[in-house]
Amino acid sequence: MAELFAALPKRVTVVEVGPRDGLQNEHTLIPTDRKVAFIDALSAAGLPVIETTSMVSPASVPQLADGEEVMRAIERRTGVRYPVLVPNERGLERARAAGAQEIAVFTAASETFNKRNINASIAQSLERFAPVVAQAKQHDMRVRGYISTAFGCPYEGRIRPAAVVDVMVRLLELQIDEISIGDTIGVATPSQVAELSALLLTRVDAGRLALHFHDTRGTALANVVAGLQSGVAIFDAAAGGLGGCPYAPGASGNLATEDLIYMLDGMGIETGVSLAGVVRASSLLAQLVDHPLPSKYYQAATSA
Ligand code: HMG
Ligand code: MG
Repeated sequence: MAELFAALPKRVTVVEVGPRDGLQNEHTLIPTDRKVAFIDALSAAGLPVIETTSMVSPASVPQLADGEEVMRAIERRTGVRYPVLVPNERGLERARAAGAQEIAVFTAASETFNKRNINASIAQSLERFAPVVAQAKQHDMRVRGYISTAFGCPYEGRIRPAAVVDVMVRLLELQIDEISIGDTIGVATPSQVAELSALLLTRVDAGRLALHFHDTRGTALANVVAGLQSGVAIFDAAAGGLGGCPYAPGASGNLATEDLIYMLDGMGIETGVSLAGVVRASSLLAQLVDHPLPSKYYQAATSA
């Protein structure tokens, strides 16, 4: 049994996406100062990367229309990175003006989802990103690239692994630093994760590959184990397990940061993140959203 886990990475980087992916789909408008308190609590918990907001069209994602205010008000802890999701040059300008030092661009492995999400074909989105990434690089900004619907699409069904590899290779050609592979609607299973990760790792170093799971069907943690066994050591998660994409019907919460940290702690894999600290951060949101937080660990920790 021990041998089965002996070769896993000893340390994992957790990319906290709660303030962006977690909140973007919430119906109740969260006040800006509450978002700031949430983000500051996440950095206090030791999360090394916190995707803080997005600078997209406020008509598309009204919940995050206060991105600039959030970016200006958070306490920036030394050593913590605060990337911002941007869809175009306008988004980059806004992010830079608000003091962002890192951005994430986003496309998909499925044409229909990409059209609905950012009103562009995959090829158009890559053309759109080229000047965004070039300008970001001129300003020494780090750039992450998301590939959504990498395992399945709400409109097109199962996605071929080769289609994901194609998009990743094109993003890498733009000099993007890190690729995050998104199971946007939470359909992936561990064998699919192992197959796709192995294929992707023939084209990119493990240090530049992240996996981004949604727990819609309860497979997110099993998928993390499959990712670890494949050599991946960067995982996205959202405190409380909030989340979903407004353009992916049926997509529910992200993998919960608490659930991920609990599992990694138990497996002896270091993250530098305090589980109690993440619970504290999530509790700041619990009264503000109009439903219970989905995180299993959060529910267990607060049910006494
Ligand atoms: P469009 O309609 O094709 O573009 O939208 P447009 O250039 O015609 O702009 C439309 C309006 O948006 C205009 O305003 C622009 O000024 C404004 P109007 O004239 O109508 O008043 N606009 C902007 N405003 C502020 N900031 C900007 C910006 N750009 C344009 N940067 C667009 C194209 C990409 C803008 C739009 O479709 C959009 O904003 N989409 C965002 C969708 C989104 O945020 N989805 C969720 C994130 S992706 C995700 O969750 C998946 C992920 O987590 C990974 C996974 O799980 O798989 C990353
Ligand atoms: Mg997501």
